[in-house]
Amino acid sequence: MYLSSLQLQNFRNYRSLDISFEKTGALFYGDNGAGKTNIIEAVYFLSLGRSQRGASKTDMIHTGCNEAYVEGVYENTGDSSQASISIGFSRDRKIIMKRDNQRVYKLSEFIIQSNVITFGPQDIMLIYGDPSDRRRFIDILLSQVREEYLGNLIQYRKNLINRNKLLSANPDDSSINIYEEKMAEYGSEIFAERMKLFDFISPHFSEYYSTIARNGNVGTVQYKPSIKGDVFEKAQWREMFHTKLKERRKRDIALGYSSVGPHRDDCIFFINNRPVKFYGSQGECRIMAFSLRLCSLLYLEKEKPGNKIILIDDAFAELDKGKGGNIFPLIQNRGQLFITTHSKDEALFKELPRFSINNSKVLSV
Ligand SMILES: Nc1ncnc2c1ncn2[C@@H]1O[C@H](COP(=O)(O)OP(=O)(O)O)[C@@H](O)[C@H]1O
Ligand SMILES: [Mg+2]
Repeated sequence: MYLSSLQLQNFRNYRSLDISFEKTGALFYGDNGAGKTNIIEAVYFLSLGRSQRGASKTDMIHTGCNEAYVEGVYENTGDSSQASISIGFSRDRKIIMKRDNQRVYKLSEFIIQSNVITFGPQDIMLIYGDPSDRRRFIDILLSQVREEYLGNLIQYRKNLINRNKLLSANPDDSSINIYEEKMAEYGSEIFAERMKLFDFISPHFSEYYSTIARNGNVGTVQYKPSIKGDVFEKAQWREMFHTKLKERRKRDIALGYSSVGPHRDDCIFFINNRPVKFYGSQGECRIMAFSLRLCSLLYLEKEKPGNKIILIDDAFAELDKGKGGNIFPLIQNRGQLFITTHSKDEALFKELPRFSINNSKVLSV
């Protein structure tokens, strides 16, 4: 399925917008503040129900308005069948998601249709940011592939919150054990999926890094669980985690939070075996982030059928000269591409239909 049209009402700087796309995608150019990222955000939002730059829904509603509406029509390349997806949302937190005019109530059901991958300037936070930035990346990707993953994550968080509440309020309550058991149950599912993901992406990550950087350095990524131990089998891991939670209870009571579990996991990036966060240049870190995003595209291709939608927001602008040219062949012909750039004369992506954006007006050129 590719996105054949996009309608916006009161979304960001757009009061009303209706654009049609070809299956190859589109390139948008325009000055800073013109509204390029906002279009990328709308496409991402339609697919995942959230902003790729972490903005709240109220931020996305046009100033002075109470509600916004985003709709996309997706077309199947094979038989030209269509599906329409829409999200309406308001300042008072009402949200209505629809597929072909039928309400969809669960976000997990909505997301499972998602075939979108994003690249953008904020990706550097995957390297420099907090572990929670990296976990968000992992959790979104796995939720796109498996509906149960998001379900397990929600259940895990619920039990974690309950355990934390008891830790600070009533540590002697025996129900803490029930929460720990549930955390181990759902946590082991999360852990297993994350390990499988990293087993798959690690070798590709190094390959992408060397293809883009071309400087002989070796880039690697490694999953770093908060619980150490050479246990990779799900049932065993569940036992180990459950035991750890019980062991840590005293310490966690003193801390006031749960100090181990998938909510404390991370992944780390190395360049020639040194942590890149402390040794790498900005340029190298950007290439690392880009390589990770490419891995997520590869993972979606492996796990899910169907056309992919690739969003690239200003991404090449931040890279050193020439690196964009190294990346170009890696994303060409991998799906429908939506790209934003400052430059009217962007030399790459010549085959894409072009739109200029100026003062919230989007014109086909
Ligand atoms: N909720 C909103 N209502 C109206 N305008 C908004 C809203 N959010 C952002 N904008 C405007 O959108 C513009 C930025 O759009 P953006 O897509 O980030 O630009 P760029 O083309 O540089 O990517 C700014 O002018 C900003 O004021
Ligand atoms: Mg922008």
